Amino acid sequence: MKAIPQSSFPPSVKANWIGGHFLQFRRNPTEFLQTLAKLGDVTFFKMGGQSAYLVNHPDLARDLLVAGAHKFIKGRALQRAKTLLGEGLLTSEGESHLRQRRMIQPAFHREKIKSYAEAMTDFAAQMANDWQDGEVRDVDREMMHLTLQIVGKTLFSANVEDDASKVGEALTTLIKMFSYLLLPFSEILEKLPIPHARRFNRAKETLDAVIYEIINERRKSGEDKGDLLSMLLLAQDEDDGGGMTDRQVRDECLTLFLAGHETTANALVWTFYCLSQNPESEAKLHEELDRVLQNGRAPTVEDLPNLKYTESVLAESMRLFPPAWVLGRLAIEEHEIKSYKIPKGALVLASMYVLQRDARFWTDAEIFKPERWETQSIKEAGQKFIYFPFGAGVRRCVGEQFAWMEGILLLATLARKWKLSLTPEQKIGLQPMMTLRPKFGMKMRIQKR
Ligand code: HEM
Repeated sequence: MKAIPQSSFPPSVKANWIGGHFLQFRRNPTEFLQTLAKLGDVTFFKMGGQSAYLVNHPDLARDLLVAGAHKFIKGRALQRAKTLLGEGLLTSEGESHLRQRRMIQPAFHREKIKSYAEAMTDFAAQMANDWQDGEVRDVDREMMHLTLQIVGKTLFSANVEDDASKVGEALTTLIKMFSYLLLPFSEILEKLPIPHARRFNRAKETLDAVIYEIINERRKSGEDKGDLLSMLLLAQDEDDGGGMTDRQVRDECLTLFLAGHETTANALVWTFYCLSQNPESEAKLHEELDRVLQNGRAPTVEDLPNLKYTESVLAESMRLFPPAWVLGRLAIEEHEIKSYKIPKGALVLASMYVLQRDARFWTDAEIFKPERWETQSIKEAGQKFIYFPFGAGVRRCVGEQFAWMEGILLLATLARKWKLSLTPEQKIGLQPMMTLRPKFGMKMRIQKR
């Protein structure tokens, strides 16, 4: 067996004597990680009592997420998310994760998700019809609303506007409270009779009641509505032949609801922002949409192979603004990274935001250039591990194909009709929470093309 060398700590930046680097990280997480990354491929920092490492090389990210993945579990954020998501796909580990993944994956096959395309373009077309020439809209809120409607429809065949609106409302409260779940000592705060904890628990109870009611009704009717909920209820494990309990279906529904809308919404918000700052790319996108969608018709799934520039625009915006901007893993056994000893219990991070902007691997790394995807394929960049907005290995995003289809169809449907420009007073900043949100929202003026 190979001995693990007892090397010194990797480089770091000066820490505060109390709390380590916690405040620096919290003040500006992306900037903090970029500063660390300049010091080397492996760097060290401390979040309170938690030792943490940042790996900043494609080979090391591959090791963390693929080759050495069995030595890690998800980081604290997702452990804490269990309070809300239970043992869903995003939060479960080991055998139970693999069993759930085997059952859910078929529902996301390319052929299966094609049937959702219509719901996607219908909701986007409705939004495109509602927008008025010259008005200012908060595109951040608009995109969140749109993707929530789509996930409501494709998951439960429900309109978030009517019967499932209670779900929408309770979810919004829960998402807001998610940041509080991530605070230090939140494990303790959660159990105290303070208003925050009470609101959180109330929202969770409302949400559970609504979801169990939907599950019960569907089980009773036995109807296959062709949506994700029916697929979850009908899914059987090929190994043990068993299905999912109501609790598992509930956990997966919440997981897909949460994982399936905010990420795509953020991808679209940043895409409209990037387009507004790059008129040449915007003009090329419009040219493609006019050519492919003649007479202003709505896009369909058959158009996807012809919407290559639209896809490049989305890929490029997710390179610069990856909706999932960092992945964190906790070591469950000792591991060696570039001759550094990573102790059991340490947190190891790899950041898409940092690596996808790394000038060692990208020319004009900070510039929005969709054309780069004409010579570099998305798949190839993924294999090189210089581009991994959907993660990698056994935990790779199960909704990746769904997200590409949704992103392209929504962008095409909205941009074929409208041009969005940033309002002069709109400040731009990053709010890297679970996803990379625009810190000050994204107010944009809508103009008819
Ligand atoms: C642009 C949109 C999206 C992005 C950037 C994205 C990104 C990611 C990433 C990076 C992971 C891996 C997390 C980790 O390794 O810790 C992940 C996992 C996951 N995503 Fe997505 N996602 C997107 C859309 C979606 C959609 C639309 C759905 C479902 C409808 C979805 C469902 C999931 C689930 C269930 C997992 C957990 C998979 C597992 O651990 O087996 N995602 N996503």
